[in-house]
Amino acid sequence: MSNQNRGVGILGVGSALPETVMTNFDLEKVVDTSDEWIKRRTGISERRVLDKDTPAYELGVKAAVRAVEDAGITAEDLDLIIVTTNSPDYLVPSTACIIQGKIGAGKAAAFDMNAACTGFVYGITVAKQFIETGAYKYVMVVGCEALSKITDWEDRNTCVLFADAAGAVVLGPVKEGYGILGTNIGADGSAGHTITSPCCHIDPVDIEKRPHENKRVVWMDGSAVLKFAVRIMEQATRAVLEEAKMSTDDVDFIFPHQANIRIIEGAVDRLGIPLDKVPLIIGKYGNISSASIPVALDEAVKTNKLKKGDNLIFVGFGGGLTWGSALVKWCK
Ligand code: UT7
Repeated sequence: MSNQNRGVGILGVGSALPETVMTNFDLEKVVDTSDEWIKRRTGISERRVLDKDTPAYELGVKAAVRAVEDAGITAEDLDLIIVTTNSPDYLVPSTACIIQGKIGAGKAAAFDMNAACTGFVYGITVAKQFIETGAYKYVMVVGCEALSKITDWEDRNTCVLFADAAGAVVLGPVKEGYGILGTNIGADGSAGHTITSPCCHIDPVDIEKRPHENKRVVWMDGSAVLKFAVRIMEQATRAVLEEAKMSTDDVDFIFPHQANIRIIEGAVDRLGIPLDKVPLIIGKYGNISSASIPVALDEAVKTNKLKKGDNLIFVGFGGGLTWGSALVKWCK
């Protein structure tokens, strides 16, 4: 049976964070940096990191269980699990398969996708297609990241930024006119060299960029990414609003990927959206990559910020380079 005339919306949300807090003062002891520099240049005060022996999927499992419960369904009801990650514990099995097994979602197909920090927006865009066509009823998208495991802890340009978390949503059919009203995703592979994280192959150029022992770490041209991010978040937000014949005045809350407070301020300033419409988490959690939007969403839901009918924007950018936006009419 086709769902083509029905909406696709978020039925449940959940998140999970490691218990260990790493403050800027802790980082002062590791690299040549200061609490003052990190706060002023990034807006980050502290972040959560997994200990060395704990896999990222443990966070993913907790977030998934919470999202399923919040949706009022059981794990056996899930038809598909998509995990968005650029820091998987294993290449094989995928984090999605690990989570599927651990939560007992026996009926669900499962796969990982990588669109770096834009992953969550890509994930819900893909999930929406399966539900719209009627192929599946309940699809879970989990942003599950352990960036601390691929961070160069000797590189002050990156180690003060990244952290660990997971955030999950369950998507399913909702009343027409509610849920995901539009999405817009894009990529520019010709600029892929601005953020890299080698895996099975390492080019000489990757080795050159990584002076320290561990070569399988993230390297980034921070200023290039910052300029791209501000521009593309404005562009992607305007594109998805235009398609729905809405304006920035119609936006109740905007959930951007949270990489740096200066990027967020720059983007909302260009859009003419007040900063108090952004549920901020960057100060306490750092850059948690594809988990940042669902974690911020979960906190907004749990603190009763959202009401039925609110227009939400999800907008992300990241390695690839990639970007994406979604317009969601909140339906819970
Ligand atoms: O999730 C998507 C991926 N990542 C991002 O979105 C990150 C985007 N970029 C950024 O957030 C910013 O570009 C950074 C926070 C990474 C850097 O901020 P910036 O204002 O662009 O600084 P910069 O790279 O231009 O560096 C300015 C100075 C440099 O020193 P010199 O060359 O001027 O002497 C850096 O070496 O700041 C220095 N610096 C630091 N100083 C103290 C860089 N990192 C640090 C640090 N502590 N942690």
